[in-house]
Order: sequence, then structure tokens, then C-alpha cells
Amino acid sequence: MPLLIKNGRIITASDDYHADIYCEGETITRIEPTIDPVTLPSDTEVIDASGKYVFPGFIDPHVHIHLPFMGSNAIDDHESASMAALVGGTTTLIEMICPGPNDEPMDAFNEWNDLAALSSAVDYSFHMAVVRFDELAKSQLRSIVVDHGIASFKIFLAYKGALNLDDTDLFSLLTMAKELGVITTAHCENADAIDAMQTKLIAEGKTGPEWHEPSRPECVEAEGVHHLSTFAELTGAHIYAVHTSCAPAVRAALDAQLRGVNIWVEAVTPHLILDETYAQQENFEGAKYVMSPPLRKRSNIDVLWNGLRSGAISTVGTDHAPFNFVGQKDMGTEAFTKIPNGIPSVQERVDLIYNFGVLAGRIDLNTFVSACSTKAAQLFGLYPRKGSINVGADADLVVYDPDHKHTLSVDTSYSKIDYNAYEGWELRGRSSVVTVRGQIQAREGEFVGTVGRGQLLKRQPTHY
Ligand code: URP
Ligand code: ZN
Ligand code: ZN
Repeated sequence: MPLLIKNGRIITASDDYHADIYCEGETITRIEPTIDPVTLPSDTEVIDASGKYVFPGFIDPHVHIHLPFMGSNAIDDHESASMAALVGGTTTLIEMICPGPNDEPMDAFNEWNDLAALSSAVDYSFHMAVVRFDELAKSQLRSIVVDHGIASFKIFLAYKGALNLDDTDLFSLLTMAKELGVITTAHCENADAIDAMQTKLIAEGKTGPEWHEPSRPECVEAEGVHHLSTFAELTGAHIYAVHTSCAPAVRAALDAQLRGVNIWVEAVTPHLILDETYAQQENFEGAKYVMSPPLRKRSNIDVLWNGLRSGAISTVGTDHAPFNFVGQKDMGTEAFTKIPNGIPSVQERVDLIYNFGVLAGRIDLNTFVSACSTKAAQLFGLYPRKGSINVGADADLVVYDPDHKHTLSVDTSYSKIDYNAYEGWELRGRSSVVTVRGQIQAREGEFVGTVGRGQLLKRQPTHY
């Protein structure tokens, strides 16, 4: 059914204006100061966006849905995670494909792709994690990029013995990424340093969640960013530091940029809002707030927001990685090293960033759209189909009510997780209508769309 969004204030990464938007089929076909509904087909649905913003659909460039990790499996599936995303205004997800060290990359790609195709309600792509780099893996990775349109890799410098890549493979992989024009996203923390610190702290009887941060302090992350940047400098590869949490890590990225390294920086919701005291709560409550890199000292929060405002940080993702408090996080009651890492927010990201960024005066509306949508589309080869409001773009739109007040809760979450890290927080602003390729998929906090409608977004490499 055609869609007319009338009287909205359109906000993109660069513009702010009032106009009407007409969508036919899956595409935006007209943007004009005013479009008279009587001139349109009689079955056109008219949405009155008076007093509301119209944003391009938000893109989350860092989610985990199907995730075998730390002896458990993340609790969402593509149905629950994509419904949660949509209700929160996110219309495109980029998920990590995370095979084990003995798995073949192509098998993993097929496994993740089949699961998403079955039940994703949002459009999606993947970052292909590289956890082995033998000849078989190399040829399959080439095919995943060239034949299947997966134009980004993911590597881990952390998680020793499980996911991390050694330096020989790191050099070879980045060499291949440069040749293929693929951007390499990376979890930057030194695996050996963490391993040594964990062993030391546990031996000292320091076993609670509050010891997670001291086991991987800021210098460990800064070393990871510097380490990755050194290899990018040697190979010319383009790199993207995911979930950057602290001033020394941002500084290491900026230093690399000044040396000519093509590095982009991502922040994620938890680090922009929560500090280390959440993970220090008693009675094991802190386990709900264990993720890696860990929540940091509060002073880092201003650094991250300033980084977004200045452009030093390009994107905001979630690092959605949901593990239940009961039955999963509690695997680590005897040792923090066994707590599955993750603080989910795929449903809450847009509203939290709007509140703690825009309403708090830390970033303007254009930067909000850029960081939560457009920049990810540009970096990961989705622009201008996604991340923009233009004639010819996919009709992925968010009509956003800045006055709506609501309270975050596990009870209103579409994620399957048994807690909400932001339980009881009162926010202003909510996605009122959310469309994916011209179809309304969420309305006023409810999923009203079609499960399985999401499509794989094939992407061309652009990072030569
Ligand atoms: O704590 C986190 N970040 N969990 C998910 C896996 C990862 O490192 O991104
Ligand atoms: Zn990570
Ligand atoms: Zn992650």
C-alpha cells in the first residue's frame, strides 16, 4: 500500500526541513513541500507527522544474535532481536558471524544466513569473523566477500584460545582485506594481557564481577587499538575499532589517524551511558553489567560524547549480546571470567542516545542521525540505499514522537532476555511509526510487521 508521511520535520545527517514524503512499493518516490493526498491512489495510507521528526531508518552496525560464546548461546533469535530493533526504530542490523576456531567460514556463513532469512523482520548484513586463516579459510572468505556481498571482516584481538587471531594471521588477513577492499572491524584488547591479569586476580581470590574491569584496564584496550593500527599502517588496510570505551583507546585511534592510518571508531550504548559502578553492585547484580571492554570510570563518558560531536567517533552501535541473568550470567558466580559478556540494548539504543545525547545537549540532531544511521551506511557499503532520505532510497523511515514519555522495562522488551540493564529509566521520545522498504513494521512500541520479511543486503567493497 502506498504511504504518505505528511507535515513531518525531516532530519538527516546534513539537513533539517519540513516536507511530505511519498513512498510507492519499497521506495521513496517523492519528497515535496506539500503533497495533496487527493491526488494519490485511494488506498494510500496517510500518516500525520505534525510535531514529529522523520528520520532515516536507524542502522545498528554491531549486534550479536546467533552467538555461541563463553560456554553458552545468546538468548535472542532473529525474530525476537529484529522485533526489538524495529520497535526501537532500527531497520537494519549488521550482525557478526562468529564461527568457532575449527569451523569452516562458508559453513558459518550459511548457518547465520539461513537463520536470518527464516525470521528476520529487518534487513540485515553480516561482518564475517575471521578466527582462522589457513588456505581453506582464505579461499572461502574470498567467496563470502565476492559471491555473497559480505564486505566487512571482524577480528578479535581478545578472547585468548577461543576467537583471537595471532599476529602472523593478522598481517596476512589485513593484506587480503586491502586487496579485496574490505574494511576490517576489530575488538581491540590484548588477549595475553587479559589472560595474565585474570589468572592473577582469581588466584588472589578476587572473583566477583567488580574485578572484570581491573582484569582488562584501559591500557589493555589502548594497546589493542595501537596494535591493530600498526598492522593497518603496514598493510594499508582500512580498520574500524568496535565498542571503544575509553580516552586512551580513542587517543590511540586519533594518533593512528594522524599517521595516515584509515581507522574509524565506534562507540556503543553502554559505554556512553553507564559507568563501572554498575558492575560493582552487590549480590552478583553487577554481572548484568559485565561486557568487554568493560564499563569504565565516568570521566570517559564525556570523552566518548565529545568524540561523537567532533567526528573522532563515527558510529554508535549496541553490541547487543543478551545472556539471561538466571542460568547464564550466573555461570560466573564463582569466577567473573565465566560470566558471559554482554549488555544488550537493540531496542533501547535510539531512545537512549536521543535522551543522553540530543536532549542532554551533547550532540545535535544531525550528528544523532549520522552516528546512529548514515555513517554506518556509508562505511559498510549500504549508502544511499540505507541511511538517507532521498528519492530512490529504500523507504526505511522512522516517524519519531519527541514528546512521548515512557519507561524502559524488561516487560515491554521484545528481546528474550530476563532483565533490562536500564530497568525503570524514564525517557522522552519514541519511534511512533517505523517502516522497512515501505511497509509499516512497528507502531507506538508494538511490532505490527511481518517476521521473515527482512532481506540480506549484499554490499560492494569500497575500502581500497
Ligand atoms: O561483551 C561483549 N562485548 N560481548 C559480545 C562479544 C564482543 O566482544 O563483542
Ligand atoms: Zn567485542
Ligand atoms: Zn560485539
